Amino acid sequence: MNSIFEPLKKAGLTTLKLRYDMRTDRCTLFAAKEWTEDLDFSRYNVDFFTESLLTPDSVFLPDAAVRKLFAGCGLSDYLEKVEHLLRAGRHFGMDCYYYQKYDIRFMGNLHSRKLGIHNKYHATLAGGIRRHDLSDEELDVIVDGLNLSRAMSYKNIAANLPFGGSKTTVHMAPLDMSNMDVMGFLAFAIDRIRTMTGPDMNFPTEMADIMNEHFSQQFTNGPSSPLGESGKPTAYGVYLAMKEASRFVWGTDDLSGRSVAVQGLGAVGRYMADYLLKEPVKLIITDIDESRVKQYIVDHPDRDIQYIPPDDILTAPVDIICPCAMGGILDEQTISRLKCKMVFGAANNQLKAINPQEEIALSKILAEKGILYQESWWHNIAGVLSGAEAYIHGAEASLDRLYKTIEDTVPQKTRENLEKAKALGITPTECMYRTCDRILYGE
Ligand code: PHE
Repeated sequence: MNSIFEPLKKAGLTTLKLRYDMRTDRCTLFAAKEWTEDLDFSRYNVDFFTESLLTPDSVFLPDAAVRKLFAGCGLSDYLEKVEHLLRAGRHFGMDCYYYQKYDIRFMGNLHSRKLGIHNKYHATLAGGIRRHDLSDEELDVIVDGLNLSRAMSYKNIAANLPFGGSKTTVHMAPLDMSNMDVMGFLAFAIDRIRTMTGPDMNFPTEMADIMNEHFSQQFTNGPSSPLGESGKPTAYGVYLAMKEASRFVWGTDDLSGRSVAVQGLGAVGRYMADYLLKEPVKLIITDIDESRVKQYIVDHPDRDIQYIPPDDILTAPVDIICPCAMGGILDEQTISRLKCKMVFGAANNQLKAINPQEEIALSKILAEKGILYQESWWHNIAGVLSGAEAYIHGAEASLDRLYKTIEDTVPQKTRENLEKAKALGITPTECMYRTCDRILYGE
């Protein structure tokens, strides 16, 4: 399997940085050996710090030397593909750290830092940290991470937060939270890229509590933080926005009698289902773990809830499809088979695309089919709002303030965007990009 970590492994290096400069359209590389295998990461922030020089035998390689290393591994074409992705999404770059002992491939995907450079925090960026199994193709992991980091830049604008966008993807075996060597390494790497983060897919939320206690305050939303996990507020924001979208389509935000298909009953989806059940909706649910669905139906005996197999959800003849699991589910083919009036959910990056232009093209196909769709970074912002509330206020973080911010921000933004898009005759997704690109790029 092709990997940008292969040259590091071969040359005994720890660090790879990729940078893309929008003004010159140039990509620049840097690689280094910053520590040796015997470094005990469980001693991070006790015996050494992010700025420490960790070995007298450090190595720093400039651009040409790194390219030579990639060529030596037969990976020049692969590197070009990664650079193409940085260019396509106008990314600041990637910071990668390799922990050879445990084969941990840490990728800090850095989009724009524009909104974060003048804040007063350690973190200039914000974005979750998610894990990918080592069996996943690395290029897919990079596409996922870069797309998500770009969405975070926009999400932070939608949430009025003073942070740039990033997302951390870690290509590694399942996390053993009792291994303080590994925990210390992840904390060190997160602190290095100056992002404020919270556990995302495939990492346990308890991870944040351990990080706070032992290593780093850049993690938020552990179960013992004053706000708890961010799934519930995230779902609440999406639910309020969905009601606004319903008002836009059907003239009422009352969901009574509407059929809604929720894809995924995970950290966000199960709360989404709960919020929807506040009204007499017809709920259709699915999850790759069928037992979750069965349990949910058992727990709600008097309600109209049906199971649908995961493969059938996108073709379900329902009013609303609410994706709350993985991204990249909507391409030309799946869109052609949709039978709903609206796709409105929490999942990040539901369109299968690598840049805003491709997203806008797909959003037009949805609009031509008469399906209302708004890219989720505009309304799935309560997760990062919750992270920011915890990060900024610490022990004084307040659920009341968080919920008030969600109620004051999310529905109004959705209403404004849908109305503005209609007035301009463009899709809601294109309209969001127009609004935000003015802020990010002065366009
Ligand atoms: N992971 C969240 C999202 O995808 C955002 C988040 C960032 C949450 C930082 C907590 C901390 O929206």
